Amino acid sequence: NLLVNIAPSILNADFSNLELVLKQLETGGAKYLHLDIMDGHFVPNLTFGPPVVKSLRAKTNLIFDVHLMVEKPESLIEPFIEAGADMITIHWESTRHPHRLLQKIKDSGKKAGIALNPATPPENLEYLLDLIDLILIMSVNPGFGGQSFINNQLTKIRKVKSMVCKAPQEILLGVDGGINLQTAPLVIEAGANFLVTGSFLFKGDVIKNLKDLLAVCQK
Ligand code: DX5
Ligand code: ZN
Repeated sequence: NLLVNIAPSILNADFSNLELVLKQLETGGAKYLHLDIMDGHFVPNLTFGPPVVKSLRAKTNLIFDVHLMVEKPESLIEPFIEAGADMITIHWESTRHPHRLLQKIKDSGKKAGIALNPATPPENLEYLLDLIDLILIMSVNPGFGGQSFINNQLTKIRKVKSMVCKAPQEILLGVDGGINLQTAPLVIEAGANFLVTGSFLFKGDVIKNLKDLLAVCQK
C-alpha cells in the first residue's frame, strides 16, 4: 500500500547530533519528522521544547509533526507553530477543551491531530471529527521509547478506521509506539496509514532500518 506514511520519532536518536539524524532520515526516504514533546507532568519524562524545534526547522524541509504530551497544551500551541510545526497533535486526556484547541490549531492553518492513550475509547472523538486531520492511537503508554506494542489497540484501530471512512475529509490514522517490522503489517492490516517509529529505527543502521520499514509499508 503506497499510501502508508512513516513518521520517524527522534526520541531515541543521538540528541548531540540531530543534524546528522535529519540527513539520515531524508536519505532513508522520510517525509515526516515526529517530535515528541514531554513535560514531566502529563508523562513521566522530559524532552525538548520550541527552541530545539526551531533549530531543527532551519535544517530540513521534513513535515514537522509535533506530538504534545503535556498538561495545559493550550499554552504551547502558538510557540510550536512559531517554531515551525506543520501538524500539532494534542492528547484527548490533556485538556477539558479538545474541541477548542483543535479549532485553534485549524484556525492557524496547521493540521490538527488528536492522540488517544491506550485506555481512552475512540467514541470520544465523535463530535470532534470535523476538526481532525490525524487520529493518533497510542499503542504504548506515552512517555518513553522502546516499549512493547499493546495488542488490544488493534481493535481500536479497526474501530477508528470505520469512523474515518465515514468522515467527509481525509483523516490520517496514526499509530504510535512499538512499531517495527513485525507490528507494522498488523497495524496496516487493521487500517492504519501513519506509522510513528522511534527505537526500531535507531538500533543499528538508521537508513537501512527506515528503508526496510518503508518496504513493509509498500507491500
Ligand atoms: C511515546 C512517544 C513515541 C515514541 C515511539 O511516548 O510518543 O513517539 O517515541 O517510540 P517507539 O517506536 O520506540 O515505541
Ligand atoms: Zn509520539
